[in-house]
Amino acid sequence: MQSTLAYAQQLDKEDTLSHFRERFFIPQKNGKDVVYLCGNSLGLQPRTVSAYIQEELDKWQQAAVLAHHDGKNPWMYYHKLFTAPLAKLTGALESEVVCMNQLTVNLNLLLVSFYRPTATRYKVLMLNPEFPSDVYAVQQQAKFHGFNAQDAIVEVAPRLGESYIRTQDMLAAIETHKDELALVMLSAVNYYSGQLLDIETISKKCCEHKLIFGLDLAHAIGNVPLKLHEWNIDFATWCSYKYLNSGPGGVSGIFIHEYHHANMDIPRFGGWWGNSESIRFLMQKEFVPMQGAEGWQQSNAPILSMAAHMASLNIFEQAGMENLRKKSLKLTAFTAFLLNEKFKNSTQKVEIITPESPEERGCQLSIRVAENGKELFQKLMQQGFICDWREPDVIRIAPVPLYNTFTDVWNFSQALL
Ligand SMILES: Cc1ncc(COP(=O)(O)O)c(C=O)c1O
Repeated sequence: MQSTLAYAQQLDKEDTLSHFRERFFIPQKNGKDVVYLCGNSLGLQPRTVSAYIQEELDKWQQAAVLAHHDGKNPWMYYHKLFTAPLAKLTGALESEVVCMNQLTVNLNLLLVSFYRPTATRYKVLMLNPEFPSDVYAVQQQAKFHGFNAQDAIVEVAPRLGESYIRTQDMLAAIETHKDELALVMLSAVNYYSGQLLDIETISKKCCEHKLIFGLDLAHAIGNVPLKLHEWNIDFATWCSYKYLNSGPGGVSGIFIHEYHHANMDIPRFGGWWGNSESIRFLMQKEFVPMQGAEGWQQSNAPILSMAAHMASLNIFEQAGMENLRKKSLKLTAFTAFLLNEKFKNSTQKVEIITPESPEERGCQLSIRVAENGKELFQKLMQQGFICDWREPDVIRIAPVPLYNTFTDVWNFSQALL
């Protein structure tokens, strides 16, 4: 690799996915495209989104309630359009996924079903740091079951002076606490460090001790290939507004492993959209949940936000997750190389805290800036480099293979220091 603009431009020329950038609106600053490195927070808008939403607005305008059953993509079954693409992105059977609600809402619904504490087994193993929403959800669920939230969460943290967790430490923690754990609840890609956990190995350990293993895929879906079914994950949920580019507050999805589908004793919150399709409109009192993930639905589908999601998923279908991952590995490795070249010659204490190994990370790189990090972040933003800041000392960037270029990250590396 070379740290020159010419080399970055050459990589862009060789990039067979480069034309996908044209499918997105790139925000502007002072008449120029910004360098958008924030797809780990909110992905860019696909140019097709408004047409997809307009199509549903037209149906509403022209057919209104009849659009639930008639015409193209009737709303009654709209969520089913998402099953195949989401199953592909998560490595699931189609019966294992459904598109619904928002991430934290879904996490709470899944905890209702899969966090089943007893007097001796009530603890939840989580990583520290974990995204606060997940922590709040678990804390409140523990409280709801009558436990002390502080006591109910077992935190595993990176070793002193290290920035991400060693798999061996995660496995050791599971082993140590196995008899008191009701659940292992992790983010597949950590929001702070960008670490991609060795989910398969952790899952094997959970299976060995018959522990329920749940995943938050907010930073993983559309970023790294997933095999939830094969890895025997019990449940998972995600959002669609980061790497899936489906718009602010975009609709979420859930995964529930097939081996839970026949078990009707699993407690769940009920709602009419989870009720069996054949009797949903009979307005009976009896709740007969659908088999599979669809049986966890609550409400009828939010069609307008789901239309945006469909526009984006179609781009993923065309690009292919494997191709995207291939480019992502190259793009993030190039970014890390450029940054490290800069850091070598800098007097500032700056370092990448994301794992170096490509198998242990997705797009994101987290840059720890020991002094005046926030000022540096603000300077970058003013210059049109859109990244984000995470307290206490990290600038996060995510070169996204669908719309970022090798020249983007070269420009960022020049502006950083
Ligand atoms: C890892 C993780 N979990 C949960 C959430 C909360 O998502 P929502 O507001 O969609 O519930 C986020 C939001 O960024 C996140 O990054």
